[in-house]
Amino acid sequence: MADNYHQSVNQHYGQPDLKAKVLAALQNAGKNIDALTRDDLKAFDEFHFGGIVETRNLAELADLKSEIQLLDVGSGLGGPARTLAAEFGCHVTGLDLTEEFCQAAEMLTERVGLADRITFQQGNALDMPFEDNHFDVVWTQFTGMNIEDKPLLYSQIRRVLKNGGILAIHEVMAGSVHDLHYPVFWTNNPALNYLRSPQDIRQLLTERGFEAVAWKDLTKHSAEMFHGLIERANQTEPPPLGLNIFISDSLPQKTANVLRNLEENRISVIQAVFKLSK
Ligand SMILES: C[S@@+](CC[C@H](N)C(=O)[O-])C[C@H]1O[C@@H](n2cnc3c(N)ncnc32)[C@H](O)[C@@H]1O
Repeated sequence: MADNYHQSVNQHYGQPDLKAKVLAALQNAGKNIDALTRDDLKAFDEFHFGGIVETRNLAELADLKSEIQLLDVGSGLGGPARTLAAEFGCHVTGLDLTEEFCQAAEMLTERVGLADRITFQQGNALDMPFEDNHFDVVWTQFTGMNIEDKPLLYSQIRRVLKNGGILAIHEVMAGSVHDLHYPVFWTNNPALNYLRSPQDIRQLLTERGFEAVAWKDLTKHSAEMFHGLIERANQTEPPPLGLNIFISDSLPQKTANVLRNLEENRISVIQAVFKLSK
């Protein structure tokens, strides 16, 4: 039986028949669902600010090598995992708490022919179902915001990462002003919003043996990007494929609130790479 936290995360991100909904949306948009490509999925399968562009940027910042074992914590629909496997040659394990996301991620990965390089496992980042010292890289994008116990999260990451391994992070952290405008993409209300300041995150990681090798503040850049996004959305009809497949009615409101939160210093956006010495 799932606990309350598990249920809240699944309720926020998951929905019944997500696999069928995704396939129907692809078909309605004129894609051949029997011969899907990664390009067909690009409008919705990377669920973080900046999409595939920021996945590639972080992969370069982390200097990913081919054939490494990489764990993606909070792998969502698997877009980042597929990018890292197809473009950087990584072997990826995706871990996510939302069952429907794991099932849809697996289905899309099979259909684009990457199942030999990527596996998805349903589970909690706070209790990772992996052996100690297993991965060369732990990767996480836009997931930490839902996780309250960050000391435990980083201890779990440290446990499964090899000595000398790399942690690559891309996520929303707290800004200087507290209280957000809701709903936002990662939660509809203060429950499930567990932002910590960039300084806190850095300190928690340093205390666990992680040394920062790269740190990029993308807050201003993200605000500019959201401005452009909203301007374009106001001028055109909604595209047939987009995040609206799984975020239904509140997408415009979430987008506007994220921009307000960015502009009012309520949230910040950080990409960072750390090296672990145990
Ligand atoms: C905003 S989505 C990001 C998905 C993906 N990283 C991406 O960038 O496309 C956040 C994901 O974190 C997952 N998540 C939240 N809390 C989690 C936890 N404690 N353990 C594992 N996954 C979690 C959610 O189920 C959701 O799929």
